[in-house]
Amino acid sequence: MEMDADMGTTTDGRTLGVAVVGAGYWGPNLVRNFRASSDWDLVAVCDLDTDRAQAVVGARSGITVTSSLDEVLARDDVDAVAIATPARTHHGVATAALRAGKHLLVEKPLADSVQAGQAMVDLAREQGLVLMADHTYCWTAAVRKIRDLVADGALGDVLFVDSVRINLGLIQPDVDVLWDLAPHDLSILDLVLPGGLRPTGVAAQGSDPLRAGKACVGYLTLPLPGGAMAHVHVNWLSPTKIRQMVIGGSERTLVWDDLNPQQRISIYDRGVDLVQQSVDSADRRTATVSYRLGDTWAPALDEREALGAVVAELAASIRQGRAPATDGEAGLRVLSVLEAAGTSLRARGALVDVAPTGSRLELVR
Ligand SMILES: NC(=O)c1ccc[n+]([C@@H]2O[C@H](COP(=O)([O-])OP(=O)(O)OC[C@H]3O[C@@H](n4cnc5c(N)ncnc54)[C@H](O)[C@@H]3O)[C@@H](O)[C@H]2O)c1
Repeated sequence: MEMDADMGTTTDGRTLGVAVVGAGYWGPNLVRNFRASSDWDLVAVCDLDTDRAQAVVGARSGITVTSSLDEVLARDDVDAVAIATPARTHHGVATAALRAGKHLLVEKPLADSVQAGQAMVDLAREQGLVLMADHTYCWTAAVRKIRDLVADGALGDVLFVDSVRINLGLIQPDVDVLWDLAPHDLSILDLVLPGGLRPTGVAAQGSDPLRAGKACVGYLTLPLPGGAMAHVHVNWLSPTKIRQMVIGGSERTLVWDDLNPQQRISIYDRGVDLVQQSVDSADRRTATVSYRLGDTWAPALDEREALGAVVAELAASIRQGRAPATDGEAGLRVLSVLEAAGTSLRARGALVDVAPTGSRLELVR
């Protein structure tokens, strides 16, 4: 058996064993994808509610169903644990799993605070174990294409980003709408923006018109280095569902409409050029700007279920003894913005600093 010096993992290509902890709304999607993957052998599903876990695995599956995390962690045939429990429980489950020598896939958000997330990242590093954040959208064909287009300069310099993620959502018992939905937008920005998610500040506003005890409508404003600006709107109260991101560039503008499977991404070869900066000319409008009106095109996308790519990347990073793309550090960058957003909300939308986190890893194309 070949051991990797950095990560202390086996690299002999055998099928890896995994247990999913949490079989509520999202856990079943992990269960299905691990079961469908030739990299993985799903050996156990753990939930405090064993009836729920049993219903997810079905009868006569041979997969252990248990409410005991200790029982799962004691097994030699469990190489990795996938955590799909509520965010406030991630740190406790992750810490126990890492101490037991298990690699980790952790649902977004990585934890319920930067401090808890940092402790998980540090422990994984100390133990030489893989810690992957399930930033699911980063593994969709659309986001990977956006990332490539931005990286290849197809849009020119990014001037603004406007992201809208609204529908009638489940009001979560433990987190507000920013912690529930904005991790998607923020993890996407982390992947596609040159330099990753490094806003120079965060201003957040939220409202709770139903008196649910937490913000159900949230707006994030993120000034970016170089003068660009990103804006994120998340909302649990909208009867219409919108999942749209506009990335305006100096050359072209990209519109991603995730609810339009025929044409999720459109590239507009249109824009505004500042020809001359003048305040005293007779006709300021025509003197200072010119509009480009070109074609619109739609790139082809190789559509596959994102979670299939997530579980494949988890296996590859364990086998190759390397950090996964969308690793714990990516999870931490998202947490830093969410935490700063909480501070801003309490300060009635004031612009607050974002604590810096570690380095950004490139997604392997
Ligand atoms: N990646 C995505 O697109 C996506 C989508 C939805 C939810 N999520 C994330 O998945 C996680 C779970 O969300 P959900 O909506 O499925 O929650 P949920 O409440 O529907 O399910 C959570 C399950 O975890 C179980 N549980 C709680 N504590 C446990 C523990 N200590 N040990 C074992 N089981 C425990 C509960 O019994 C429940 O069945 C959250 O972090 C959420 O943000 C990710």
